[in-house]
Amino acid sequence: MLSSKLQDALNAQINLELSSSYAYLAMASHFESNALPGMANWMRIQSEEERTHAMKLFDHMNDRGGKVVLQPIPQPTHDFDTPLSVFESALHHEQTVTKAINNLYALAQAESDYPSQVMLQWFINEQVEEEKNAMTAIDQLKMAGGNPSALLMLDQMYGNRTAEPAGGAD
Ligand code: FEO
Repeated sequence: MLSSKLQDALNAQINLELSSSYAYLAMASHFESNALPGMANWMRIQSEEERTHAMKLFDHMNDRGGKVVLQPIPQPTHDFDTPLSVFESALHHEQTVTKAINNLYALAQAESDYPSQVMLQWFINEQVEEEKNAMTAIDQLKMAGGNPSALLMLDQMYGNRTAEPAGGAD
């Protein structure tokens, strides 16, 4: 049985993942309306992945007899600048999520909740991947500088991003 403290923290994490999904969706729309469909694709897939993260926590709560309490999702920003700055804010966001996951893991350890620790290990690995993906995009956008052809080439590349196989979120 999940402690009420851990339930509260998991509910907060569900909210953070859904908020992330919403934030990336706003970024997808921004790129879509700024003639960068590949970057829009990257963000849309990211948004979908965040929902699978929320659902993984949702399932864990229900499987363990916890009570999911969905909380309001804040309005994401629609105020964007260059593609580089959008990906920089994505990285900043992921760093916040990583801290939240690490805190959750520490709480699961403090409470000797072993199933939660095992479940959260997936998220710890996933956060390494999430930060790496954002950092790679930032490095590439920095290399492109203000060169429109390089930007369009990157956009085409990001258009090839596909969703993780269904098992990826298990
Ligand atoms: Fe679900 Fe991007 O953290």
